[in-house]
Amino acid sequence: MKRVFSVFSFLVIASMMLAACAPAAPAGAGTIKVAILAPLSGPVPTFGVSTRDGALMAIEEWNAKGGVLGQQIEAIVADSQCTADPAVNAANKVIDQDKVHYIIGEVCSSASIPVSEIAEQKGVVQISPTSTNPTVTLNPDGSTKKYIFRACFIDPFQGLVMAKFALGQGKKTAFIMFDKGNDYVLGLAEAFEAAFTAGGGSIVGKEAYTGQDTDFSSILTKVADSKADVLFIPDYYNIINLVATQAKERGVTSTLMGGDGWDSSDLDLAAAEGGFFSNHYSAEDTRTIVQDFVSRYEAKYGSKPDALATLGYDAANLLLAAIEKAGKDDPALVKDALASLSYDAVSGTITFDAQHNPIKSAAIMQVKDGKVTFAESIAP
Ligand code: PHE
Repeated sequence: MKRVFSVFSFLVIASMMLAACAPAAPAGAGTIKVAILAPLSGPVPTFGVSTRDGALMAIEEWNAKGGVLGQQIEAIVADSQCTADPAVNAANKVIDQDKVHYIIGEVCSSASIPVSEIAEQKGVVQISPTSTNPTVTLNPDGSTKKYIFRACFIDPFQGLVMAKFALGQGKKTAFIMFDKGNDYVLGLAEAFEAAFTAGGGSIVGKEAYTGQDTDFSSILTKVADSKADVLFIPDYYNIINLVATQAKERGVTSTLMGGDGWDSSDLDLAAAEGGFFSNHYSAEDTRTIVQDFVSRYEAKYGSKPDALATLGYDAANLLLAAIEKAGKDDPALVKDALASLSYDAVSGTITFDAQHNPIKSAAIMQVKDGKVTFAESIAP
């Protein structure tokens, strides 16, 4: 009994001492918590790592300059796996347990859409760095979700950009492959089809698969037989690596084209050689703001930032600038500050339209000689 008592009194005294020694918090006390929901595991882990690293770098830069509203920013990173259920669990955890008012993420549209419904309902500001499906920021009736924003363009634009580019390259026929269970892939495939046919091209085949498929040979035999000028496959790099490899084996001669989902340090460059994809940014962009960011990022992480790292950085900066502009750690005020913000981000100057989407240019990237190089920029 005595022993129990002494351990107890030691703990009481120790905790009193700890409280007394805690560093003096700035006026207003505490930290401002920001959650980063990123797919660190699951099918596309490079997306999560880049997004997290970009967002953390922005937060560290703000903290080094004194934080926001005189408070340090505390990042809470959760693995949301690019998948609806784990993303919803992560969102509920950071909102209900960690009590965050702000979420950066998710990366993938199919994860960001269900998270946005929770954030909207609970009055938490969410900014997705990279989710391009239009419904991320929209309610089913077409109205704009008040608390949801993104730092990237949307798929109708991205599809149009790739269709225009393909037509401009003299491509007249296209075969489309798409994952019927992925909101991003589905939406981008539809946008490309609409713009490519409107511009005078024709779709000579369209085949669906699922995200669990690993053998695409029966579809690719049809693609080879179609002799389409373009095989449009707007999926993530893990699927592109399989499809591009198998396409070569099946004698597919079509030029492979896709969207931002190809952007990964794990893209199989040999398999995707000769392909083109739309993206949000190029590290070859010579603007000072881009080159300064690229060198700071390289110094910190030892690699060049991809589009996900850049948009993670931009999304965090946008959010923190909006908190500062609002003057208070109150998501109801911050959402209004964000809606009317103009911010010089690395990926371009960002202002939001009525649907909380930035209006920005797209970059077209080419896989050439085992490297991803900038081909051209297309303005809205
Ligand atoms: N745009 C993709 C989506 O909405 C995510 C993504 C963006 C992936 C940028 C790679 C690069 O799901």
